[in-house]
Amino acid sequence: MKAAFTTCFDDAIALDAQYREIVGKPVRTDSPTHLYEVQYATAAPPLTLGAFSYKHYEGCMIYDALRRAGIGLGFESMLDIGSGFAAMPRITWVRNYSRDVTALDLYPYGVSALTNGMVRRRLAQLAAIQASGVRNLRGPMGKWEWVVERQNFRMPPLQPSGRFDYKVANVFELEGQYDWINSSLTLTHFDHKILFDKVSSLLADGGIFTFTVECWWYPVNSTQITGAAPWMCQRLTRDDLLRYFKECEPEVDVDHVASVYDYYADPEHPTASDYIATAVANDLHPVIVERHMNARSWSKRASLAPPWLRRDTGHSALDALANIHRFKPSVTVEDLYTSHYLLGFRKVARPAASVAARNA
Ligand SMILES: C[S@@+](CC[C@H](N)C(=O)[O-])C[C@H]1O[C@@H](n2cnc3c(N)ncnc32)[C@H](O)[C@@H]1O
Repeated sequence: MKAAFTTCFDDAIALDAQYREIVGKPVRTDSPTHLYEVQYATAAPPLTLGAFSYKHYEGCMIYDALRRAGIGLGFESMLDIGSGFAAMPRITWVRNYSRDVTALDLYPYGVSALTNGMVRRRLAQLAAIQASGVRNLRGPMGKWEWVVERQNFRMPPLQPSGRFDYKVANVFELEGQYDWINSSLTLTHFDHKILFDKVSSLLADGGIFTFTVECWWYPVNSTQITGAAPWMCQRLTRDDLLRYFKECEPEVDVDHVASVYDYYADPEHPTASDYIATAVANDLHPVIVERHMNARSWSKRASLAPPWLRRDTGHSALDALANIHRFKPSVTVEDLYTSHYLLGFRKVARPAASVAARNA
């Protein structure tokens, strides 16, 4: 392996064969396109108890954040954009956190993967596990214990009212008004500037928009593109990244790297501040701003979580940040430690006169 890669800004990044070994494969190859919606475009197998529990946990993080922000879970109409298996919107409906719930996806796989009846059965199974006092379950990646302990599967009572709809459609074709719009782990599929404009048009005045999203700037992001130094995908421009593979890891299929990189569709690779600035421009004002960081040394995506990188590999987040600042100065050091953002906004529409002035 070469000793260093020189960026288009003339910065030398030292290459480290040991780090390359720790993070393993250079790019995700789990399916030809790695798009799980394509894998499940026709039919999806029922969601396992373990997978359901993870999805339930992700939903609970949003419910908890809303409660902490003083926003009651008693909505009239909720829209979930890019629902996939639709665990979160189905739980929202079964729990009666919103009277009507619309789950929306380009593909129908949430219809066969999970039904409202299955949600009730899964919640009952998890309640039974919790009540049994079992604390040592081993599930996927040994993480069951943690997932089961942190959730309360019995409260509140399950009394759905209203309507549950799984719509197979493109969000940009949708019309209507909702008082809560959520999107879980899906924003990486969109240019957020185009999506937020649409979300704002679908949200009633006073309505809430929440989302969780993978942070591009974590050492290994959703692309799972890795190199022989941490943050390689993030600390290089797209052109430099492809040149890095040609020069330093020629066995890697550069076209595949490019297609995975481009699949994550937001050209801005937004930070929390970028999301907030776009939201505010669309009358969506921040009410929840959370960063999720990894407090355990082991990290599902990055193998080694950022706090341990310096000790175990000698690499510094500040070196990566200096490279990133050459082309995106607004990224902060905490973005490099953040695996997910959880953000929430309230729509406060401007008076009609001011909208007219803006459009004039
Ligand atoms: C990563 S999955 C997330 C699934 C689910 N929210 C979860 O947390 O498990 C992203 C989903 O967004 C959907 N999607 C992407 N673009 C969309 C669009 N324009 N309209 C509706 N759904 C879309 C995809 O089909 C995919 O199922």
